[in-house]
Amino acid sequence: MKLGFIGIGKVGFSIANRLQKLGHEIIVGNNNSSSESLKKALNQNPLFTHAQVQDMVMQCDLAFLATPFGANQSVLQGISFKGKTLVDCTNPVGAGISHGLKSDKSGAEAVQEWAPDANVVKAFSIYGYENFIDNAFPQYHVKPVMLIAGNDAKAKNEVSFLLNELGFAGKDTGPLSQSLHLEHMTLLWVKMVRMNGHTPHFVWACLEK
Ligand SMILES: NC(=O)c1ccc[n+]([C@@H]2O[C@H](COP(=O)([O-])OP(=O)(O)OC[C@H]3O[C@@H](n4cnc5c(N)ncnc54)[C@H](OP(=O)(O)O)[C@@H]3O)[C@@H](O)[C@H]2O)c1
Repeated sequence: MKLGFIGIGKVGFSIANRLQKLGHEIIVGNNNSSSESLKKALNQNPLFTHAQVQDMVMQCDLAFLATPFGANQSVLQGISFKGKTLVDCTNPVGAGISHGLKSDKSGAEAVQEWAPDANVVKAFSIYGYENFIDNAFPQYHVKPVMLIAGNDAKAKNEVSFLLNELGFAGKDTGPLSQSLHLEHMTLLWVKMVRMNGHTPHFVWACLEK
């Protein structure tokens, strides 16, 4: 697939680099061609290409959003998605690692409002980027789960396909409004790891019978 990335820092690069090595074509969308992270990404993986954000969206089959949450509105302003899937990896994080929108609504629903003609799927948000670089836990017989949320079944199927290729067990939690709960899971993970000394190489698993 042709996969586009808006934001190619720790999260964007980790996911894009793995997907490129699985055979996907990666286009980084950035209107600032002197962006430090863009230069670093193109240097680290010369098979990535670069385009303006709108051109990238026109070319790609599916796009990822991996920017600081505070940049999302301006980054998405005026971008036409024409029904394409936009994977929201971003998290609204407020003071003291609280929910940045005061839990009134999810960041993913705000992203959907800022990109109204995209099919937004929340994914790749509940762990630190360390687990996007390496999610292999060979001592276990279950895969790390990746909880997703979104309103469009086809868009969620596309994301689930990529998750499966990456070695995650995708789990559909329901409509995009479920993202609020996923964002709180993120805060739990972040507080445990970034504040309370747990290893970043820990993931959630989903066991069902
Ligand atoms: N870090 C984690 O472990 C983690 C895990 C899951 C989700 N998240 C979420 O994922 C998002 C990205 O986090 P990150 O750690 O990857 O951040 P990061 O390493 O700082 O990368 C941010 C990326 O966004 C770009 N960017 C920043 N402002 C922009 C703007 N106004 N317009 C266009 N591009 C802009 C940056 O480009 P420049 O270099 O040009 O500034 C860079 O490519 C955040 O919302 C974060 O909450 C983070």
